[in-house]
Amino acid sequence: MVPMCGIVGYVGSGPASGRPLEVVVEGLRRLEYRGYDSAGVAVVTPDGLQMAKKAGKLVNLATQLGTHPLAPGTAAIGHTRWATHGGPTDDNAHPHVSGDLAVIHNGIVENFATLKAELVADGDGFASETDTEVVAHLLDRAYQATGDLTAAMREVVVRLDGTFTLLAVHAAQPRTVVGARHDSPLVVGLGDGENFLGSDVVAFIAHTNQAMELGQDEIVTITPTTVEVTDFAGRPAHARQYTVDWDAKAAEKGGFRSFMDKEIADEPQAVADTLLSRTDVSGALVLDEIRISESVLRAVNKIVVVACGTAAYAGHVAKYAIEHWCRIPVEVELAHEFRYRDPVVDERTLVVAISQSGETMDTLMAVRYAREQGSATLSIVNTHGSTIPRESDAVLYTHAGPEIAVASTKAFLAQITAAYLLGLYLAQLRGTLFPDEVVAKLAELRAMPDKVQTVLDRCDLVQEIARWMADTPTVLFLGRHVGYPVAMEGALKLKELAYIHAEGFAAGELKHGPIALIEPGQPVFVIVPSPRGRHSLHSKVVSNIQEIRARGARTLVIAEDDDEAVVPFADVVFRVPQCPTLLAPLLAVVPLQIFACELAHAKGLDVDQPRNLAKSVTVE
Ligand code: M6R
Repeated sequence: MVPMCGIVGYVGSGPASGRPLEVVVEGLRRLEYRGYDSAGVAVVTPDGLQMAKKAGKLVNLATQLGTHPLAPGTAAIGHTRWATHGGPTDDNAHPHVSGDLAVIHNGIVENFATLKAELVADGDGFASETDTEVVAHLLDRAYQATGDLTAAMREVVVRLDGTFTLLAVHAAQPRTVVGARHDSPLVVGLGDGENFLGSDVVAFIAHTNQAMELGQDEIVTITPTTVEVTDFAGRPAHARQYTVDWDAKAAEKGGFRSFMDKEIADEPQAVADTLLSRTDVSGALVLDEIRISESVLRAVNKIVVVACGTAAYAGHVAKYAIEHWCRIPVEVELAHEFRYRDPVVDERTLVVAISQSGETMDTLMAVRYAREQGSATLSIVNTHGSTIPRESDAVLYTHAGPEIAVASTKAFLAQITAAYLLGLYLAQLRGTLFPDEVVAKLAELRAMPDKVQTVLDRCDLVQEIARWMADTPTVLFLGRHVGYPVAMEGALKLKELAYIHAEGFAAGELKHGPIALIEPGQPVFVIVPSPRGRHSLHSKVVSNIQEIRARGARTLVIAEDDDEAVVPFADVVFRVPQCPTLLAPLLAVVPLQIFACELAHAKGLDVDQPRNLAKSVTVE
């Protein structure tokens, strides 16, 4: 499974100028979270195509453009790469050129070797090891035959297996950019006398908040004043226009040292916004977005949550609440495992896909598989205009705003919140909770943003400990019940941000093996449930702390304000406000996120763009 690249395209109506390049480089800066192995641009100038590309982060390309500026142009495309075919070198960086045509690509052309062999046999030479260069050659040949970039794109896309978003420009069509998408994201930005294309709206949000969603297997041709969308056969297609409800400032660091710091600070708002406007005057939940009929939802006898990474841990948390409130069995499955194991799902199964980006290929494929089996599909997604909601029967949007840092933080809290809303909605519909119980639980949820803020206000201690622990080689995380997925999420954050070996365990599993890892000085985070919750849970975790402490572990304990029982056995206690057991993950995860973030800063690492990763994993 590999994540992929960021792409941006621009065309304007004025005389040739520096704007196309500026817009594209600015777009790449905002899209760099999608891949940072190399970056490149191609500009259509009155004297033909000009190109610059460089291995490494965007700053390398920017430096090159500073010393070797490109001529003014009318259109441009730009690419930031997560390497798949061919290493992260200058030659393998996009754009790839053939004749007077340049192309950029997000995805994988699975039959590229066959296509390349044909082209080589026909005399073509190649400058890179990429699958994309094959597309450049095919497009160039098709252009020579048709004299039209859109027609050329139509001819080529049907020959490609795999996944792709492609953008192409040709020197002979200086005010045209053509894009195509198949199982990979592409959105249109509508400007005044200029138009944009991007992997997501972040690419052009500094210029317009008017966007257009493209469907699967569509080709789009933008000029300064027109946007034409067709399917691969050339038939006109309808593209939905929408207004992006956040502005460029939301996608800026806003004075924080990193996007991740900012996104953690955004968490109270992310939870509050996700809860906003979802009740009627009587306090009952109204989830208008859920376009699955009430009779289907009443008949559901199993829920399967499909997701990857952090989103899957949000699903694990939600399982506890939904089963408790709705009395429906909930399975949580990594999306990439789900569809390859012949899962038992049918028309009485509700498949819930959770995804920040709405583009994770494994999750998308799981949704498609579920629909084929006749299951109703509902997605919990943060990014409007993305593919997963388009292909689901219903969507419940989280309103976390753009999440730019590769490591997911505020989206996790928003996903749990939205999944809880879904659980309460189902409980209301199926009568497994009384209306006043739903109202009371919603009130508890609404109290959470302030409590999350309290945890943020107390971040000094966790930051100080993180800085002390910068040289730690391994950290363990323990939790029970809803604390268990939080432990796994804490470990994931530390691995991906600080490159420290970390494991999250169910505390009850300790004595079945993991306790053998405990040796003197081993740091262990323990997430302690509320002492006011199910009593046995709390006392069992306190016993677990004693067991590891007795073997020399250094215990870093997350516990409620009034929980004195942990004090004798904790080396450090991070306090969180009191809250109901099922809501505790919204608080307990925050110190773990701050810990990983601070430790990565202390090690001098790039917190927003950890090595080998990219934000959206848009192919398998
Ligand atoms: O966009 P999605 O929520 O579908 O992404 C799922 C995972 O790729 C994502 O959560 C990943 O695990 C993050 N790097 C976690 O910080």
